[in-house]
Amino acid sequence: MAELGPVVWPPAPIGTERLVLRAPEARDRAAFIELLASPEVHTHLGGPRPRDEVERAVPEIPERRLGLFVIDLDGAMIGQIMLTRNTGHLRQAAGKAELGYLFLPEAWGYGYAAEACAAALDWFADALPGEPVVLATQTANERSMRLAAKLGFTEVERFEAYGAAQWLGVWSSVTSCAHRRSDDPKETA
Ligand SMILES: CC(C)(COP(=O)(O)OP(=O)(O)OC[C@H]1O[C@@H](n2cnc3c(N)ncnc32)[C@H](O)[C@@H]1OP(=O)(O)O)[C@@H](O)C(=O)NCCC(=O)NCCS
Repeated sequence: MAELGPVVWPPAPIGTERLVLRAPEARDRAAFIELLASPEVHTHLGGPRPRDEVERAVPEIPERRLGLFVIDLDGAMIGQIMLTRNTGHLRQAAGKAELGYLFLPEAWGYGYAAEACAAALDWFADALPGEPVVLATQTANERSMRLAAKLGFTEVERFEAYGAAQWLGVWSSVTSCAHRRSDDPKETA
């Protein structure tokens, strides 16, 4: 995996209103297995891996991979967010930092993914100022499309890949700050 950039990893846990973004721990193993083997989670991701294969592959202490945040609600893992360097398979995303997210189905519909991704993007904007982040998702993945829009990703292109229609969006802390500034009377005066 290509390096994300000159970042200290893992960072100190990041707290949000309801969640903590932190490095993986041994107690997260069952949730990692569920995330990777769940047919519902992988509906728009090419299908799940066989559960027995996942059971064998996930180590006792899940790997602390660069850019991987565990999302913790009241001490239990409910999902993961990845901020990784795209290694080139996705056209205009090649070489760019890319956001990915997987949440357990029982945690959908509460705004947890939006809350956690916003915090991860804030962390990224501090760690690598001005660098854009891309996001690819199937257009049929309605929850993911809504989340991307909510986070402030804007469309770069649509294309076919892996037998499905894909959406590629980009987010920039620069344009996000510009939006915040135009809302702030002190900044626009
Ligand atoms: C994509 C995914 C993360 C979206 O999860 P999600 O829970 O729908 O996303 P959000 O955190 O934005 O939550 C939005 C929902 O929470 C609801 N909600 C409830 N309480 C809320 C609150 N306090 N704040 C905000 N939203 C709240 C919103 O109304 C919205 O509901 P709706 O979808 O019925 O309109 C999730 O479906 C998933 O993990 N899918 C499988 C993996 C995947 O496909 N990943 C894409 C790879 S790029």
